[in-house]
Amino acid sequence: MANTRRHIAAFAPLLFAQQALAGLYPGLSNLNHTCSLVDPVLSCSAGASDPRAVDTCCTETFGGLVLATQFWNTYTGFDTTPSPTPNTTTGTPEGPPVPAWRGADIGTFLAPLGKLDLLAWMNEHWVAQPGWRNGDFWGHEFGKHATCYSSFDVECYGPGYREHEEVADFFETAAAFHRRLPTWSWLEASGVRPSNASTFSLGDFARPLTQGFGAIPYIGCSGPKYNTTEAGKGSTDAGYTVINEIWYYYHVYGRVQRQQGLAVDANITGGRLTNCARTPGALHYYERTAGSEV
Ligand SMILES: *[C@@H]1O[C@H](CO)[C@@H](O)[C@H](O)[C@H]1NC(C)=O
Ligand SMILES: *[C@@H]1O[C@H](CO)[C@@H](O)[C@H](O)[C@H]1NC(C)=O
Ligand SMILES: *[C@@H]1O[C@H](CO)[C@@H](O)[C@H](O)[C@H]1NC(C)=O
Ligand SMILES: *[C@@H]1O[C@H](CO)[C@@H](O)[C@H](O)[C@H]1NC(C)=O
Ligand SMILES: *[C@@H]1O[C@H](CO)[C@@H](O)[C@H](O)[C@H]1NC(C)=O
Repeated sequence: MANTRRHIAAFAPLLFAQQALAGLYPGLSNLNHTCSLVDPVLSCSAGASDPRAVDTCCTETFGGLVLATQFWNTYTGFDTTPSPTPNTTTGTPEGPPVPAWRGADIGTFLAPLGKLDLLAWMNEHWVAQPGWRNGDFWGHEFGKHATCYSSFDVECYGPGYREHEEVADFFETAAAFHRRLPTWSWLEASGVRPSNASTFSLGDFARPLTQGFGAIPYIGCSGPKYNTTEAGKGSTDAGYTVINEIWYYYHVYGRVQRQQGLAVDANITGGRLTNCARTPGALHYYERTAGSEV
């Protein structure tokens, strides 16, 4: 029981904006970014399309399609799957690859800012996949995801900006979104509990999660394709069979730190709602390995 990397019965969080570009807005002044003084503009709307027409610290002008991802893994200690996938800046297989994080263990950024509670929360809820140190994983997450929000530019923090303040702010924002997405509880409330003895249908997940969230999330599976399994022999259903990721999409009013998201369907820009098998009873929602929950 000495393993401190055990995970609670929750999905692990991620938060990212799609569409990453480097550089953002060089030359931005660090003055006058008091976002409470401006009406929040909805990201991805016409009002947010021109970065010169708004304060980019107060309106997300880079993409602005916010994605909160949660992972379900049966073994939270030392699995083998690298995470997150796909390993690209856009979160799609075609996107540019994420550069490796070469910075320090990002956990060390939080203590000097007095964010020991946030660090403790992250160590419990945001556990790296095996093979990663948590701090390196968070660095990857920051490098991959935070750098595509205009509102985490350091100029936004004013002349009193403290080193890595935006990093802490990003993780705090991710925690806030995550806390409002009780995937596990939404499923449990509709009678869907992890089971190694029974199987599930896609609708068992899609219905309660869509109802809880208020829009259709993306449901991701890993594991073998259905028609390569014994149960799916002869089927044309080549969807994957092990539930492991849920992606929730939002547009946001004002900067993402305000935490006012507008839930949007995962296919809002086209694209699929799942890669899981659709055959009734084809899916596994596995119980955690003993010792992987607290
Ligand atoms: C900041 O706001 C003050 C008060 O409106 C204004 O006088 C000043 O020019 C602004 N400075 C910048 C750099 O926007
Ligand atoms: C992600 O891609 C980068 C660049 O291709 C690579 O250096 C890094 O190790 C990859 N990370 C994972 C977890 O695969
Ligand atoms: C599984 O289904 C896909 C698409 O329907 C098909 O292309 C593939 O050949 C099938 N594989 C097996 C092993 O049956
Ligand atoms: C998203 O999927 C839903 C459910 O299949 C469908 O009703 C809707 O038209 C789709 N939206 C887009 C933009 O494709
Ligand atoms: C349930 O099955 C998964 C996948 O085989 C396994 O990793 C996990 O340890 C099992 N959990 C329990 C409690 O047996």
